[in-house]
Amino acid sequence: MTELTDTTGPATPADPVAFPQDRTCPYHPPTGYAPLREARPLARVTLYDGREVWMVTGHAIARSLLADPRLSSDRRRGEFPSISPRFEGVRDRRVALLGQDDPEHQRQRRMMIPSFTLKRAGGLRPAIQRIVDGLLDTMIEQGPPADLVSAFALPVPSMVICDVLGVPYADHEFFEEQSRRLLRGPTAADSQGARDRLEEYLGGLVDAKARQSEPGDGVLDDLVHQQLGQGALERADVVSLAVILLVAGHETTANMISLGTFTLLQNPGRLAELRADPALLPAAVEELMRMLSIADGLARVALQDIEIDGTTIRAGEGVFFSTSVINRDPGQYDEPDALDFHRPTRHHVAFGFGIHQCLGQNLARAELEIALGTLLTRLPGLRLAAPAEEIPFKPGDTIQGMLELPVTW
Ligand code: HEM
Repeated sequence: MTELTDTTGPATPADPVAFPQDRTCPYHPPTGYAPLREARPLARVTLYDGREVWMVTGHAIARSLLADPRLSSDRRRGEFPSISPRFEGVRDRRVALLGQDDPEHQRQRRMMIPSFTLKRAGGLRPAIQRIVDGLLDTMIEQGPPADLVSAFALPVPSMVICDVLGVPYADHEFFEEQSRRLLRGPTAADSQGARDRLEEYLGGLVDAKARQSEPGDGVLDDLVHQQLGQGALERADVVSLAVILLVAGHETTANMISLGTFTLLQNPGRLAELRADPALLPAAVEELMRMLSIADGLARVALQDIEIDGTTIRAGEGVFFSTSVINRDPGQYDEPDALDFHRPTRHHVAFGFGIHQCLGQNLARAELEIALGTLLTRLPGLRLAAPAEEIPFKPGDTIQGMLELPVTW
């Protein structure tokens, strides 16, 4: 597997790096980002349409800017930067939470917080364990080999988020396909169509829940019967929240399970350490979060001029945060390219930071601990069923993860 020392050639601040780029090794930042790693804490990058924007690459400055209200997350602003033409097609859409600035963001977030606390996630652990066990029973029954993505990594979070939200898992093929097209469709029109179909589907579900006299126990049931019923949210807001929760709730965690497993199998020393001491699991999950930084490229636009580190980010300029580069800042982490379950990983930005810091992080951590821990315990002989170099992974302009993961045991 190609390592980070390969660079694609010299670059200077006058020669902005193209962003995003595909990773060369699925668990390291693209080798083409080497100049960004050298140019901490801020660099210029060029997007697919030739536009130049800022790229935040230093850890301290990232946390300061992610918490700065002068940077907006409102995707409907004309100057909001986009990493791929596919997002142009959904630019005019209402994006709950992630696409809102305060005070509207805070209003929505307050409604959601009680459903995603650490305690709530803890209460879901037995249900997550049952889902993980059931999927592994089937995999073991069918015998090796298997594609770990379709047999395990995708269905675990998909089933969990269906339970949490009150969405029928029977519809999973439909919503998984639409989510995939929304995030990775070939054209803007394709992504837009996928978003339309998701909104129509979840709108129908919201209406059906509103007609029920006895609400179910999912998060969407609460939203419909409390917030919509009392006029605190409009139907379009509830549908938009449902879209983001359903998509973010399964795509991201699925990628962490597949890429996390691949990374452990490629680092046999760390894998053996984890098998020998399962108490390391929470630290291992956190370190994998830092190392893999699967959501690599958080976008914002400056609302005002911002003076930072001797530089001025001008109003209207686009700003990206490369979490993979930020999470390997040597000023924050010793030997940042090494997978080390004993380092202090606190303060990584793989779940973001500031007001938009991941709402589902407690749930994601519970899922990852149970999924990875149980997988390693029940399949002690787990290994790749194809040469690592031949296993396909996702392109750089979407959430990082494996497209397939052939395994045997
Ligand atoms: C390991 C898996 C996950 C990763 C790596 C991840 C990553 C992130 C990141 C980086 C952000 C901040 C985006 C930004 O600042 O622009 C975010 C926000 C968000 N995530 Fe996650 N996420 C994960 C799992 C989940 C799950 C399971 C849910 C399900 C509920 C979820 C729901 C959300 C929501 C609703 C937001 C927007 C929060 C806001 O704007 O206030 N995520 N996530």
